[in-house]
Amino acid sequence: MAGVELFSHPALHTRYRAGLCSAAALALLLIAVLTYVPPLLLAYRSHGFWLKQSAYREQPTVRFRYEVLFVATLGPGPGSLLAWSTFPAFNRLQEDRLRVPLLSTREEDRNQDGKMDQLHFKLELPLQPTEHVVGVQLILLFSYHLYRMSTFVMQSMAFLQFFSPVPGSQLFMNGDLKLNQRQLLHHCGLDTRYNVSVVNGTSPFASDYDLTNIIAAYWDRNVTTVFSDPNPVWMTGRAADAPFIINATIRYPVEVILYPLKTA
Ligand SMILES: *[C@@H]1O[C@H](CO)[C@@H](O)[C@H](O)[C@H]1NC(C)=O
Ligand SMILES: *[C@@H]1O[C@H](CO)[C@@H](O)[C@H](O)[C@H]1NC(C)=O
Ligand SMILES: *[C@@H]1O[C@H](CO)[C@@H](O)[C@H](O)[C@H]1NC(C)=O
Ligand SMILES: *[C@@H]1O[C@H](CO)[C@@H](O)[C@H](O)[C@H]1NC(C)=O
Repeated sequence: MAGVELFSHPALHTRYRAGLCSAAALALLLIAVLTYVPPLLLAYRSHGFWLKQSAYREQPTVRFRYEVLFVATLGPGPGSLLAWSTFPAFNRLQEDRLRVPLLSTREEDRNQDGKMDQLHFKLELPLQPTEHVVGVQLILLFSYHLYRMSTFVMQSMAFLQFFSPVPGSQLFMNGDLKLNQRQLLHHCGLDTRYNVSVVNGTSPFASDYDLTNIIAAYWDRNVTTVFSDPNPVWMTGRAADAPFIINATIRYPVEVILYPLKTA
């Protein structure tokens, strides 16, 4: 039978009390702690909670600048040097050490995406039958650009070096031009801090072409490239009239670039 509600009684309000040091109070405290602390720990340990930096992938736009500095050490015995570079001022300093090699280079865009993927570099150093190469040092200079977040423009280098107790005929090298980031890059804007030549090719002073000085100044930079995993193969047994050959392949791999997140 449908009816009208005449009176309703609210649910009984019952209080259960316990002492502050009782087991029940302890259980209540434990439950409260478990509610807040584990999620906090989880978020913190997942490294995603107080994120200060992030990363993205980009293949840099790299171009060989056709700038080279080359030093060959002759041996065995008290080593004399042969040197050459694309900087006329350096060559003038060499006098009888100057030996002009034959260069052939080719950059290749393997996947046709408009960005070069590797450089094939070949250097043939003409030698007298009595001259034997026991070591080479080679600086190759590049233009290096990133576009995806900030526009980052720099001039960078690959340093190739190899020494052997046995005179060589050919040196093969095959490695990556890797980005070395000591500092986060900006997430937007234009960064041309390091758009300066690695070698000061206008300087008439020998100290400006000293490999130790060049490398020390270069490593002062916060962002550099380094020729990594060169996998050198040193071939011996040069024919008396044959040149010494360096055959290097330098790849321009996709990089993971770190940048700061905007702080609110
Ligand atoms: C970087 O330097 C090169 C050569 O010095 C210059 O031609 C170029 O305009 C510079 N790029 C930027 C973005 O400043
Ligand atoms: C290169 O060397 C010359 C002569 O020492 C100097 O005047 C010039 O400022 C140097 N350039 C750079 C970019 O360091
Ligand atoms: C290089 O990085 C250090 C540390 O992050 C910074 O203090 C310095 O200003 C940076 N140098 C340049 C030229 O940006
Ligand atoms: C350089 O060496 C590679 C093998 O590593 C070879 O395929 C290539 O033909 C050589 N390049 C030249 C110009 O000789």
